[in-house]
Amino acid sequence: MAEAPATGNVRKLIDDPTFPTQWTVVEEHLGHKVLRKEGESKELNVHGYAVGVDFDICIADGICITVCPTNVFDRMDIPSEQARMDNGTLNDSGKALLAIWKADPAREQDCIFCRACEIQCPVQAIKITEP
Ligand code: F3S
Ligand code: F3S
Ligand code: ZN
Repeated sequence: MAEAPATGNVRKLIDDPTFPTQWTVVEEHLGHKVLRKEGESKELNVHGYAVGVDFDICIADGICITVCPTNVFDRMDIPSEQARMDNGTLNDSGKALLAIWKADPAREQDCIFCRACEIQCPVQAIKITEP
């Protein structure tokens, strides 16, 4: 049985005007920042600054990887997502996971700001910020 999320939990990173400038950088991962917003982020945080992907919202749809003309993203397995996947638990997108990986913006420095990923992500987990 899928667990229903508390209403109000559903978020879209693209709708948060405070990202990325007012979020806290918690670590670096493969040359990009990992950021979180207290009271908003769950355990997985957002990877990337120019190309921000909220791992608490990403459901592994994968269209971002398909459409990116400069191959910015890598699939990154998150083993701690297995239980959520198995149980059909909804994440902050309000939807269930399709897989346990997330789209990691491993080469965000290669982004040409076409915004195809941002537009096509079905759960609006991505926010693009031009320098
Ligand atoms: Fe690729 Fe998205 Fe940038 S599709 S080029 S990472 S805006
Ligand atoms: Fe995740 Fe959206 Fe890409 S769900 S894999 S960020 S298209
Ligand atoms: Zn990362």
